Amino acid sequence: MDIDEISSNLETPYYLYSENLIKENINSYMKHATKHTLFCYSVKANSNLSILKLIASMGMGFDVVSKGELYRVMKAGADSKKIVYSGVGKRKDEIKFALECGILCFNVESEGELHAINEQASLMECVANVSIRVNPDVAVETHPYISTGLKENKFGIPYKDALEIYLKASQLKSLNITGVDFHIGSQITTIEPYLDSLKSIKSLIAELEKKGISISHIDVGGGLGIKYQDENIINKDFFISTIVSELKDLNIMILFEPGRSIVGDCGILVSRVQYVKESDEKSFLILDASMSELIRPPLYNAHHNITAVHRTDAVKKNYDVVGPVCESADFLGKNRLMNVNVSDLVIIEDVGAYGFVLSSNYNTRPKPAEYIISNGNINEIRSADTLDQILANEL
Ligand code: LLP
Repeated sequence: MDIDEISSNLETPYYLYSENLIKENINSYMKHATKHTLFCYSVKANSNLSILKLIASMGMGFDVVSKGELYRVMKAGADSKKIVYSGVGKRKDEIKFALECGILCFNVESEGELHAINEQASLMECVANVSIRVNPDVAVETHPYISTGLKENKFGIPYKDALEIYLKASQLKSLNITGVDFHIGSQITTIEPYLDSLKSIKSLIAELEKKGISISHIDVGGGLGIKYQDENIINKDFFISTIVSELKDLNIMILFEPGRSIVGDCGILVSRVQYVKESDEKSFLILDASMSELIRPPLYNAHHNITAVHRTDAVKKNYDVVGPVCESADFLGKNRLMNVNVSDLVIIEDVGAYGFVLSSNYNTRPKPAEYIISNGNINEIRSADTLDQILANEL
């Protein structure tokens, strides 16, 4: 669609998603749906209510990490029997809410949490399904901030302690042990770390069987990478079928928690060039988008392609593409060869995951609007903040 035409009626910066692309990504998972697989979209990647509704309507379950995310998916019409609840710091009120909703299972990350869930379930005279998140100590080649499966990470229970924790869990009356899970990181571009983890997890399951603890599901987490630049990524079909075939002898349910690979490549951030600024050392394109709307470049040194909507006759130059926020870290791309003029539109690509959800009101900037293209129409799915909304809770 013609972004220039669309933008004549819309205020920049704004997020724009494609419903068709999201559906395509969902389908590439859902076509593998059998009674032995469950796909739980990881809400943190993009939690817009309209997008969650779309995902729920196509039969996916959800992976949530807070009462807020659980509240969203329930509003979006999720089937509570397809919800898993992950995260290292679940509060009592969050556990209570999840039990009231009747979720499929808690992914438990510490012994303390096992006791907290057991206590709450006992108070409510119910039984909580639990799966223990095991940290398989597997290295993945990704940014250290999004690697989670190493010993030094705060996530999961160290592999060597897992058996003991399961034995302890089996003594707690209000818990029902159903699964084992792991999540080793995000933006993973090779299958090997998954296979290495599965090897350890399978031998853990065999040990558990010997102790009389039988496991009915394995949750392999999320993490499948997408192509931002020139990465060689794993094909979704190959990824799913490899994991399914790796586990087929166990006759067990397999859960997946994809986030980025459902929404990442389905969104762009549209922004306008405010100023072109030259200094002795550098040329800067100053946009009306900033780290407040998209923090991935400064936070993870992430690369997002930035393209001009109209390639003008302006001279091609190397620019640092920056925003108006008062931080030297406020950049969206560095050394980008572009030919653009003041007032031109640019698009920042592949921001459907961890884009809007990580936006903030820093510098009292309103969070931008979100739109989705469905059936050729542009629908607003979240309006931009007004200044009064930003101030509303302050005294
Ligand atoms: N399951 C669990 C337990 C997770 O912690 C995550 C992501 C996922 C599933 C989904 O992973 P995905 O399929 O999206 O890779 N903000 C960072 C990414 C943080 C990922 C956190 N956990 C970024 O912008 O790259």
